[in-house]
Amino acid sequence: MVFMTDYKQITTFNNKYKTLNLIMQNTVKINQDLVYVGVSDRRTALFENVYQIPNGVSYNSYLLLDEKTALLDTADITVSEQFFENVEAALSGRALDYLIVNHMEPDHGALIAPLLLRYPQATIVCTAKAAQMIEQFFGQKPANLQAVKEGDTLTLGRHQLTFTMAPMVHWPEVMMTYDSTDKILFSADAFGTFGALSGNIYADEVNFENEWLAEARRYYINIVGKYGVQVQNVLKKAAALDIQMICPLHGPVWRENLGWFIGKHDVWSRYEPEDKGVVIIYGSIYGHTESAALRLATLLAQRGVKGIKAYDASRTPVSELVSECFRVSHIVLASSTYNNGIFTPMENLLADLKAHDWKRRTIGIIENGTWAATSGKLMRAELEQMKEHTILAETVTLKSAAKAEQEEQLATLAEEIAKTL
Ligand code: FEO
Repeated sequence: MVFMTDYKQITTFNNKYKTLNLIMQNTVKINQDLVYVGVSDRRTALFENVYQIPNGVSYNSYLLLDEKTALLDTADITVSEQFFENVEAALSGRALDYLIVNHMEPDHGALIAPLLLRYPQATIVCTAKAAQMIEQFFGQKPANLQAVKEGDTLTLGRHQLTFTMAPMVHWPEVMMTYDSTDKILFSADAFGTFGALSGNIYADEVNFENEWLAEARRYYINIVGKYGVQVQNVLKKAAALDIQMICPLHGPVWRENLGWFIGKHDVWSRYEPEDKGVVIIYGSIYGHTESAALRLATLLAQRGVKGIKAYDASRTPVSELVSECFRVSHIVLASSTYNNGIFTPMENLLADLKAHDWKRRTIGIIENGTWAATSGKLMRAELEQMKEHTILAETVTLKSAAKAEQEEQLATLAEEIAKTL
């Protein structure tokens, strides 16, 4: 892809298109100078071609209109038509002076080259690493590029922007942009969530805790969860700023109750459980392991444990299971033995948990096998490679199906979990 050569053609197309007099723009004025020009997507089934997004996702982008104009990030290629409509409408005939690239992942960076075809005079402002990625993705260096580092500033007129580096939140080139005039943090992927926006672009306009938090957690844990140390670094930097509004690249904008949402990220990035509670995940081929896992749930409930959640690993997206394993303090993993190994969905879950540096939980194990029950030993070995887990000593072992002695073992496991909650 090239940046400039088709500019004339694009301009001609745009001008013809404008004569159709279509009103497709869907922008939101955030304040006198800032316009939301992002787009929501309910068509994509898999974010990053791997994570189910039943509620869709938004690709947020913001346009600052000052003496100079600055667009903060572009959007995913799938929403390009609406995105360019929005940018053009928000600019309202003005030139685009700057494109600030906080993050180069293609869900935000895919439209950089197409944007420069439309606004070739714009200067890209980004980190040196992002500049290198622009060349990698588009095969050409943009004509106007200003590389910035920690603490560098850009004055647009009334607004002064300060750039702060946020490596590995979620890629190495990431930076955040702080508008010290209006005290707004453009936080890149941080403080984002899965979920398309429906007119209400602010978190205080939706029932975030009941309707969005689970997806925010699933987004954070799966996308950024591995980089807790780096998120902690960013939280420390953010604590030194006076932030009145957070504008992330996904999900609602935060202008109220910021401390509550920042607090969630603090807990998640310290790998501490958010809830004292029990999640039971089972990998069951013909239902016998499932039966034992659900019996354990009942035995826990009889001991006063509330809010127990049980999941079939074969039927639940692994990203949801990973998110739930991060949420609670106690997890029971129950798996059939399969080809002398761990049943595949459970094996996949353990690999994913290890990849996300999951740690500091109390874990019980149930295994099953008809030829030979080896899944417990194998799961334990996987868990021991992770950090700081407390793995309960006794594995409950089923030979094909639970018998009276397993009821006793399950009761003992329930007792042990209940007393450590
Ligand atoms: Fe939303 Fe890491 O991109």
